[in-house]
Amino acid sequence: MNIWLKNVIGYVISAVVVSVGTSYVGFTYPFVFVFNIFVFAGFLLYILLDLPPLKNPESTGGRLALLLGTFLLGGLIYTVVGFALPQFDPQFEIAKINKPPFVRVEPGPKLIAAGKEVFLANKCINCHKASGEGSSDRGPDFDLWQIGLQTPEYLKEHILDPKKKQAMGFEDEKSKKAMPTYFGEEISPPEMDALLAYLGTLWNREKMPVRGNVKNLVPWDEDPEMVALGQKVFEGEIYEDLNCSVCHGKDGVVLMEGARDLRNPLSKSRNHDRPMKDWTHADWFKSVSEGVEETPMMPWIDDYPALAIWLALTYDSQFHKKPENQKLAAPLPLQSIEDLWG
Ligand code: HEC
Ligand code: HEC
Repeated sequence: MNIWLKNVIGYVISAVVVSVGTSYVGFTYPFVFVFNIFVFAGFLLYILLDLPPLKNPESTGGRLALLLGTFLLGGLIYTVVGFALPQFDPQFEIAKINKPPFVRVEPGPKLIAAGKEVFLANKCINCHKASGEGSSDRGPDFDLWQIGLQTPEYLKEHILDPKKKQAMGFEDEKSKKAMPTYFGEEISPPEMDALLAYLGTLWNREKMPVRGNVKNLVPWDEDPEMVALGQKVFEGEIYEDLNCSVCHGKDGVVLMEGARDLRNPLSKSRNHDRPMKDWTHADWFKSVSEGVEETPMMPWIDDYPALAIWLALTYDSQFHKKPENQKLAAPLPLQSIEDLWG
């Protein structure tokens, strides 16, 4: 067979095997790219070996020209490859290190109480049930919705400009016009701070948040839109550095040895002693927010907002419900913590 054809076929096969193999093992794109450069270099080497040997030039000038040519060619290849490789940008790395860490600001009881006054004085309570008071015939029930999980920025935006975006389950024409648009003038900036502090307390660790109106309340874990959002958190697309799937696997097939198999309905917990299929929402919250001591499973609530925890578990509590995972239902022995660190 033609030597060239043989080399090209060999190259293509190696490139495919290396790309698929390294991606499968979990290397990210830049690494797969670098591996491919090695494969290409190997290909060039084979070509070089198959080339007819060069004749030694007769004259000194010829030899010098050859030497210079080789040198220039080598330099060119290095430069091109150097530019093609992913660049290290010190500015970017420094910015990442200097980024202020997530800090939980716990507002004082006084500010929260003042916020509740603002809530009552502005008659929000006529349309939004909160702290067990008021009526929610017209607007979202803030207790069930756990409105406090939303960021202050999101809440403020909606209070100042309710027409901009409709809350889920309130897309009808009547609801669109229901919430007054004058709160920007009525509520002073310090009052707004207090109001946001109060709204921020409206969430809890016990129950799955819901969305929708009185007639149709859907818990997040039964709401395809929220499950899809949860998947993004689980796979690290929303919060930088919070990526459950690097250990637990995108499809629940564990990638990091020792991580809990989230597909097995009988899987046990170190935080409570029910099999996974019987975990309550509070159990899930505890497991994900507090983590497992002495293992890489961190107490994520220390570094991320409660919203991240609820979204992550909205998604990670789906794996064991899938029909194809029911056959995995075998009690898993809990390994010793020492084993988990390998
Ligand atoms: C007359 C009824 C009414 C009053 C009064 C009212 N709202 Fe609303 N609000 C609604 C309705 C209806 C919606 C859902 C439709 C929408 O998104 O605009 C809503 C939505 C919201 C949302 C968005 C929820 C989400 O998750 O997207 C926030 C936040 C909110 N209201 C806060 C307030 C606050 C704070 C007050 C008082 C300062 C207030 N509302 C007063 C009717 C009202
Ligand atoms: C660095 C790897 C890693 C990451 C990232 C990670 N986990 Fe874990 N996870 C583990 C390990 C290890 C365990 C402990 C397994 C055991 O105790 O058997 C665990 C345990 C769990 C458990 C069972 C806890 C219990 O009660 O025993 C749940 C649920 C869980 N992880 C969900 C998540 C979610 C959701 C995320 C993302 C927010 C996440 N994990 C991120 C490695 C990880």
